Amino acid sequence: MSEEERSVDRGLDPGAREMVDEIRDYWDARTLGVQYVKDGSLERGSPEYFAHIRPWMNPYKFPWIMERIDSEARRLQGGHLLEVGCGMGFDSLEFLKRGVRVTATDLTPAAVATTRRHFEVEGFVAEEVREANALDLPFADASFDAVWANGVLHATGDTDRAIQEVHRVLKPGGRAIISHFYRKPSWMYTVSRLGRENIEHSDRDPPVNEFYTDEEILAMFRNFRVEEVAREHHRALPVAKTGVKAALYRWGFRPFYNLIPEKIALRFAYKLSVTAVKP
Ligand SMILES: C[S@@+](CC[C@H](N)C(=O)[O-])C[C@H]1O[C@@H](n2cnc3c(N)ncnc32)[C@H](O)[C@@H]1O
Repeated sequence: MSEEERSVDRGLDPGAREMVDEIRDYWDARTLGVQYVKDGSLERGSPEYFAHIRPWMNPYKFPWIMERIDSEARRLQGGHLLEVGCGMGFDSLEFLKRGVRVTATDLTPAAVATTRRHFEVEGFVAEEVREANALDLPFADASFDAVWANGVLHATGDTDRAIQEVHRVLKPGGRAIISHFYRKPSWMYTVSRLGRENIEHSDRDPPVNEFYTDEEILAMFRNFRVEEVAREHHRALPVAKTGVKAALYRWGFRPFYNLIPEKIALRFAYKLSVTAVKP
């Protein structure tokens, strides 16, 4: 069997497969973006559907993500980028718009189908959109010029293994742009210990969302040359959710926390993004 034909979880032991199945079931029913649909009359997969969700998604909500896409796309002209955990494909789409060749992947059939539809609606063609497990990427060594993963690797159940897979499929000189890891200590880490972790989600938290210290994260990049490390999300963000915990967060925690001076608040940022090069 060629590397490309490997089934998505083939290289995993039975325990890891069980965990991946649980993660897949969770995300298959909750492709990131669906929770922001406030107008039930929108047809899933229509141009209006994607336009309705767009303002809530990472590159549009967080300007630093769009800047990162811009600068990486400028470097990559003609190069081939792999996105791991593409969700609805908003990030990959921005790379396609900037002339980058893209292979977009996700663990779940729902994300793959939605991303295919999204590209079709926008009139862009990817090299490939397919299911792939970050822990066992179905690609040969040294296949890509860059790997992009946004909000994914800490949710796979084995972050270190996922980073070593990113390293394997990159060409020498290739760039891993990982936005982001969850940090501890951070305000989100504390909130998650007290109650819900991802208070934006409509029902339950994802089965796995690991938190790491900065040192633990950087140790996982031992085979890379780390180029940039950025602390992000030092301010407590607005949430779409309702309910008692969301209200406590909205009225009890957020306004006061956000008064903390920037320099101190940065210490408690809950996301860390890393850009690293395979030597
Ligand atoms: C928080 S969402 C982020 C989606 C997208 N990157 C975005 O920013 O809109 C996490 C994504 O990671 C995917 N995922 C979780 N475990 C994965 C794995 N082992 N391999 C590939 N994707 C995975 C989920 O299916 C989900 O689409």
